Amino acid sequence: MNKKMTITSIKKAKGLKPLVMITAYDALFAKLLEPSIDMILVGDSLNMSFAGKVDTLSATLDQMIYHTNAVCQGAKNSFVVCDMPFGTYTTKKQALNNAMRIFQETNADSVKIEGGSDKAEIIEHLVSNGIAVCGHIGLLPQSVRGEGGYKIKGKTQEEKESLVEDAKAVETSGAFCMVIEGVKADVAKEVAQSVQVPVIGIGAGKDVDGQVLVFSDMLGLFEDFTPKFVKKYIDGASLVKDALSSYAQEVRTKKFPKEEHTY
Ligand code: KIV
Repeated sequence: MNKKMTITSIKKAKGLKPLVMITAYDALFAKLLEPSIDMILVGDSLNMSFAGKVDTLSATLDQMIYHTNAVCQGAKNSFVVCDMPFGTYTTKKQALNNAMRIFQETNADSVKIEGGSDKAEIIEHLVSNGIAVCGHIGLLPQSVRGEGGYKIKGKTQEEKESLVEDAKAVETSGAFCMVIEGVKADVAKEVAQSVQVPVIGIGAGKDVDGQVLVFSDMLGLFEDFTPKFVKKYIDGASLVKDALSSYAQEVRTKKFPKEEHTY
């Protein structure tokens, strides 16, 4: 069994070994993923790939707590990060109340919040009250409606400078690591080099300190759309559909159950 990571070992991994993070939303998958990964993210992406909504914005704190409990139950030996959903960290007081609920009602090891310099005060407030925070900079899925779509970041000099500033602000505020999403690879590399804490990429190229993917994307289970940065390691949707079709056919032709499945 792998040793459970801590914020100390995660910070120390920078420059030594790439960190492997993946999302999970339930105990079943958390248990399957646990042996291969370093950190599990209970992402608010569950609102899309689990609940079928068009974006992450309607995910609720209760929903995140419910799924985080399931994941912690399935992967007792993993470092678990719980996403704080949209609208739950707009002020320091509100952020702390909600992060405390996550820490009191689940075994999550950390929360994740989206935003850079604009969230520095909030991150600092959480950290100084005993909450471990993972930052999230670059493309921020919770800003999709505000920005009118998912926009890749780092295309201009101004965006590059602001990303480096964001990363430094998140680090200075006390975050132990951060996710960087949807950023030009050369810029993400520069961002990762500008801070001492690990920068974990998604759609940000290879020159960062680790990678995160949504499990249902990399297992090929989510069929609605496939972002460019996703590699499907198996065609999960086809495997599941083929298995279900075989089951249905065997039930209809009375080939299942057989003697060995019968009491
Ligand atoms: O919600 C999520 O799954 C995330 C990842 C895309 C990093 O935030």
